[in-house]
Amino acid sequence: MLKLGVNVDHVATLREARYRGRERGEPDPVAAALACEAAGAHGITVHLREDRRHMQDRDVWKMREAIKTRLNLEMAVAPEIVAIALRLKPDIVCLVPERREEITTEGGLEVAGNLAVITETRKRMNDAGIEVSLFIAPDPAQIEASARAGSQFIELHTGAFAEAFDQEAHRQAELERLIAGARQAHALGLNVNAGHGLNYQNLQMLHQVPHLVELNIGHSIISRAVMTGLTTAVQDMLRLMAGYPG
Ligand code: PXP
Repeated sequence: MLKLGVNVDHVATLREARYRGRERGEPDPVAAALACEAAGAHGITVHLREDRRHMQDRDVWKMREAIKTRLNLEMAVAPEIVAIALRLKPDIVCLVPERREEITTEGGLEVAGNLAVITETRKRMNDAGIEVSLFIAPDPAQIEASARAGSQFIELHTGAFAEAFDQEAHRQAELERLIAGARQAHALGLNVNAGHGLNYQNLQMLHQVPHLVELNIGHSIISRAVMTGLTTAVQDMLRLMAGYPG
């Protein structure tokens, strides 16, 4: 069964818009995570960015305490955040590139060009009992490098596919890159997740990508939740994912 990890960063984004620098405020991302779990989500994803623009340190510690499913911590390979992750012990970390000027994680991780530091971080996480995923473009060289780094998972960056969704030929090309990437990764022994830009419109087409274990979805679910509530938003997404052939 294809699993859903809900990224609740945007709940913290909304809180920070009003309560930045304060110790509390609404909405509470931990309460949102619990509502997602109650609605059937298989995991919760949070990104502790170096600039702390949405999730704060106190959030990830409370999250670790409160949630009953799997905690996926998205993070840059930055010494401060690596140290926090090793203490926090999420179930899995997803290593992502991070640039301060970006709105969200815009590109995939350059694994091939940073193999030594990524392999070292991967080992430190695994030694602490934390699984590792690498957020990469569906690029053969990055997939190959992810296997060489010894990662357990990759997360295929679906942003280009999502961006191309309204242009049929371009969309098909991006879908084929994802299909080829998933096949290559699976053949190399990597578990394959996917995420970024997935929504209630483009999800059905993603069923053509084989070997997927989990999707990480944030913006579309939190946006729909403003209109319908989180329970309905999560359940609607789970319904769209249910027919995944595996
Ligand atoms: N996966 C990763 C690695 C991400 O960085 C993000 C964005 O934070 C997502 C998934 C979720 O993307 P979206 O909010 O577009 O669903």
